[in-house]
Amino acid sequence: MNTNRLDELAALDRAHLVHPVAAWRQHEARGPLLLTGARGAWLTDAHGHELLDAFAGLWCVNVGYGQDSVVQAATAQLRQLPYATGYFGFASEPAIRLAAKLAEITPASLTRAYLTLGGSEAVDAAVRFIVQYWNARGRPTKKHFIALERGYHGSSSTGAGLTALPVFHRGFDLPLATQHHITSPNPYRHPQGGDAQALIAASVQSLRDKVAELGADNVAAFFCEPIQGSGGVIVPPAGWLKAMRDAARELGILFVVDEVITGFGRTGPMFACDAEGVQPDLMTLAKGLTSGYVPMGATMLSEEVYATIADGAPAGAPIGHGATYSAHPVGAAVALEVLRLYQEGGVLANGQRVAPRFAAGLEALRAHPLVGDARHRGLLGALELVSDKSTKRAFDPALGLPDRVFAAAWRNGVVFRCFGDGDARLRAGAHLHRSRVRPAFRTLDAHTGRRAG
Ligand SMILES: Cc1ncc(COP(=O)(O)O)c(C=O)c1O
Repeated sequence: MNTNRLDELAALDRAHLVHPVAAWRQHEARGPLLLTGARGAWLTDAHGHELLDAFAGLWCVNVGYGQDSVVQAATAQLRQLPYATGYFGFASEPAIRLAAKLAEITPASLTRAYLTLGGSEAVDAAVRFIVQYWNARGRPTKKHFIALERGYHGSSSTGAGLTALPVFHRGFDLPLATQHHITSPNPYRHPQGGDAQALIAASVQSLRDKVAELGADNVAAFFCEPIQGSGGVIVPPAGWLKAMRDAARELGILFVVDEVITGFGRTGPMFACDAEGVQPDLMTLAKGLTSGYVPMGATMLSEEVYATIADGAPAGAPIGHGATYSAHPVGAAVALEVLRLYQEGGVLANGQRVAPRFAAGLEALRAHPLVGDARHRGLLGALELVSDKSTKRAFDPALGLPDRVFAAAWRNGVVFRCFGDGDARLRAGAHLHRSRVRPAFRTLDAHTGRRAG
């Protein structure tokens, strides 16, 4: 791309485009990192440099870039029927087939799919359905929600309060008085971390304690990610998810699994729930559902949740939740093709095949003096860097380590996510992975273009 066009785009970006989860003024000063193309696992920037996209977009492009069959599915649907509302009983074939397919591949407890535009909207719908469910069951006091510290459940006006990362709360008057968080099951940082069974027992106990504190009659649901993605790729011990599921059932609260990142093969099986035979009451999905090619998410409901809501409403009265783009036919057509690639196209099997190599690579880096922890499941992984391995001390935020690591990776032709726990700006685990890369396009000019590894 020529310099004039780059300069024009940088100026327009700074003047008009509000970036998600960004430091707005800092972004204006630095300008955008412009991407212009992608193929397979490789991105191309505005200077024609190639970068290995080790972050799969934003943990979403699971089939890689440039899959023609996905483009064809979208194009065919755009020609045939680019839009169909789901209101007033209207429907489209892809939306119907996608709902049926999701009911088939998600855990057996889940039979109904509400199709959204992404993960935040899926979480928001889940919250609204849960409120409706308990009201329909004649339990209107069950209004409190429990989630995990360092959890991420999107940034809708209620979902961002279930999220437990400070920048999603600061200045937004969150969390709400009905939103609570319990300790994250992080084996590296938890006091019981050395002993998997003790950690699981401690986690179950914190859920019980929180429910007891709030009163079981007041608690609606527990939300969790099977692996906490944005909170730092926190991988609980095997058996944790099942134990939390069982505890939620005993406590009489709904169990909601947020598989927006972990779904669609990211951790090996189609869903992380499958690894432990977990049957949730609700599940939220997005990202890998369409592999990021177009926006789509889903809120999956058990038959019991669905039926309670359906039968709780006065005969003929609509359940007042929906959007113009609910069950969008183009998103659904793309999702169906992406799901075909995961299964018949061998993408899931390939992920399972290469996961041990990925794990071995990360594990080998434990020997490095700054690597405190290596954690992974399937093709989701992270390294935690510490300044002192024996005390697990984080780095002084003044060093700006996340920025430096990101910049070094970029120079070596790799993009991944870097964030720092000790830094108040970054503690949020926000998508600040490229801060301190110098402004706009100048940095890219200096980039070597050399591929890593
Ligand atoms: C676990 C989880 N839930 C929900 C969301 C929100 O999804 P979206 O960004 O599509 O709104 C995300 C996004 O990263 C996520 O990781």
